[in-house]
Amino acid sequence: MAGPGSGGTEDMAGGKSRFDDIYSRPDPRPYFRRLAPLEYEIPHHAQPVFRQAAAERAALDDARGHRSAVLDVCCSYGINAALLNHDVTLAEMYERYTSPDRQALSTAELRASDTAFYAARRRPDAVPVFGLDVSAPAARYAQDVGLLDAAFTDDLEQGSPGPGLSRALAEVGLITLTGGGTYITARTLTALLDGVRRPVWVSAFVLRTVSYRPIARTLAAHGLNTTVDTSRTYPQRLFTDEREQRYAIAAVRALGADPAGCEEAGRFHSLLYESRPGTP
Ligand SMILES: C[S@@+](CC[C@H](N)C(=O)[O-])C[C@H]1O[C@@H](n2cnc3c(N)ncnc32)[C@H](O)[C@@H]1O
Repeated sequence: MAGPGSGGTEDMAGGKSRFDDIYSRPDPRPYFRRLAPLEYEIPHHAQPVFRQAAAERAALDDARGHRSAVLDVCCSYGINAALLNHDVTLAEMYERYTSPDRQALSTAELRASDTAFYAARRRPDAVPVFGLDVSAPAARYAQDVGLLDAAFTDDLEQGSPGPGLSRALAEVGLITLTGGGTYITARTLTALLDGVRRPVWVSAFVLRTVSYRPIARTLAAHGLNTTVDTSRTYPQRLFTDEREQRYAIAAVRALGADPAGCEEAGRFHSLLYESRPGTP
């Protein structure tokens, strides 16, 4: 388990451990090395969900004669883009970025190897993907290796979209999110929804420790109805320690959910929120 002495920092944010030091490294190896022992798995659960949402959203485009893009918010090193558009699994990505022989490569060597790796696995039904993340090194890496068609580092918690993101928003038809529900709020979604030009769907996996209500309200104000099946939870990762588990159990209870069999069994769990045009 990562912690003091394991080579990184795990600051606390509202009781949840933070991994800020692995978000802004030049390539994804530290991210995967740190999260492997915690069995971080939410992008794996999102893969079929996002593929289906992207296909259904693309079918809507076909009927209207134009193609829209996916915007992955908190995209980091392009993990969701990799899983969406390539024949690759999250397990293979863990294997790839933690394997001893790849630790000796320079970032430039890894970048070249990744570019060829993902190009060879590109799916015929690949859709354009834009990424948004405040970490410039992560987003840039994802774009450099071909996972993202465009990468943006605007912090919409702090300000408005810049000209590049504003132009890109006109193309966006689906917004996806994993692992970012504790970092972004309704402020980011408001800024995005204010800028879109097409019917936009949102598919978001958010920890049960966080209320999605403020975001759902924002989406409703933009004409999107949000549904969630609270009986279907998705394991996200192991807790770093007992203190983090106690925090999560209390947070889940405070939001009216039952931690039995989920957080009490040792892992954060997420819910899937799907927002589509319409009223409840
Ligand atoms: C736990 S990682 C999730 C990465 C990826 N989606 C996944 O599931 O593997 C959270 C990411 O959110 C990013 N982030 C934090 N604050 C943000 C903000 N205000 N806007 C966009 N991204 C942010 C971090 O840089 C980090 O890459």
